[in-house]
Amino acid sequence: AYVVTQPCDGCKYTDCVTVCPCDCFREGDRMLYIEPEDCIDCDQCVAECPVEAIFHEDQVPEPWRHYIRLNAEMAKTCPPIFERKPPLSGG
Ligand code: F3S
Repeated sequence: AYVVTQPCDGCKYTDCVTVCPCDCFREGDRMLYIEPEDCIDCDQCVAECPVEAIFHEDQVPEPWRHYIRLNAEMAKTCPPIFERKPPLSGG
């Protein structure tokens, strides 16, 4: 599965959700998460993110490895997001 990491925190550009064919993005307060059980490893969201926040779980940079579990946990409680919306002002 793919994983949303640190650069998304405080940005939430949401470009990624428009290309996901399996609706696996979930919206948290400060960032998005990917539901790993729904992700089909299509790779399309990676190129959409302007801040390069998305990595395959096998390629997440070492300092951000904890985001793998965070995505899996937060995806269970956050609502799905299907449409683009304005990014957070702090981004
Ligand atoms: Fe976040 Fe990038 Fe998507 S900043 S909301 S992962 S386009």
